[in-house]
Amino acid sequence: DTASPLVVAIDGPAGSGKSSVSRATATSLGFDYLDTGAAYRALAFACLARSIDTSSPDAVIAQLVDFDYEIGIDPADYFVSVGGEDVTDAIREPRVTAVVSAVARVPEVRAYLVALFRQIIAASAKSGIIVEGRDITTVVAPDAKLRILLTASEEARMGRRSAEISGESAETTAKQLASRDAADSRVVDFMNAADGVITVDSTDLDFDQTVAAVVDLVRVAEGRA
Ligand code: DC
Repeated sequence: DTASPLVVAIDGPAGSGKSSVSRATATSLGFDYLDTGAAYRALAFACLARSIDTSSPDAVIAQLVDFDYEIGIDPADYFVSVGGEDVTDAIREPRVTAVVSAVARVPEVRAYLVALFRQIIAASAKSGIIVEGRDITTVVAPDAKLRILLTASEEARMGRRSAEISGESAETTAKQLASRDAADSRVVDFMNAADGVITVDSTDLDFDQTVAAVVDLVRVAEGRA
C-alpha cells in the first residue's frame, strides 16, 4: 500500500489550537492538511447566503444537492470556496459560527461530508495527510495509523481564542466557546479519547512545542523515531 498516504487523525474542542497545529505539522512534514470543520462552515455559509432556515434539518439537507464546495489541502495554499466564490475568511465570521453547530448536527449532513472527506483523503498524493476535526479519530478515519486527541485546559483555550478574536470581551468569548462545545459534544464526543487515541495536552506547551510533539508522534508512527 505504498500509494496510500499515512493518515493522521486529530480531534479536539474549539480553541485547542487544532487547526493551526495541524497545518504547521503538515507543512513541516510535507503532508496534506484537511480541515473538516471548514466544510461544515462552508455549508452553513451556503445556507445563510440563500436565507435558508438552519434550524430546519430538511431545508439544510436540500442544500446538499448542489453544494459546490472546494477546499485546498496543500497547507501552503489553504482556501475554501463555495460556488466558485472564495469564502476562506467569510466562513470564520461570527454569523457562520453561530449556526454551524445546527448544520453539523444533521445526520444526513454528517454522512454526506464523511463520505466526501474519505474521498479527499484517498485522493491525496502526498506521503501523508493530517485530518482535523471532531469525529476523525472515531468516524471519518478510525483506522488511521495515528490518532490524536488535542486538548488544553478550558482556561488555556479561552485565552487562545480571545487572543484570536479582538474587540470581544473575554466573558463573551468564554460563553460562546463553552456553548458551542456543549452543542457540538452532544453530537460527537471529542472531549474523551477513544480506545487507542493518544492525548496531547497542550495546556503547558507553546505553539512550537505542540507542533514538535505531534511531529514526534508521526515519526514514531512512521517507524522513523
Ligand atoms: O473546528 P471548527 O470550529 O471550524 O468547526 C466548525 C463546526 O463544525 C463545529 O461547531 C463542529 C463542527 N464539526 C463537526 O461536527 N465535525 C467535524 N469533524 C468538524 C467540525
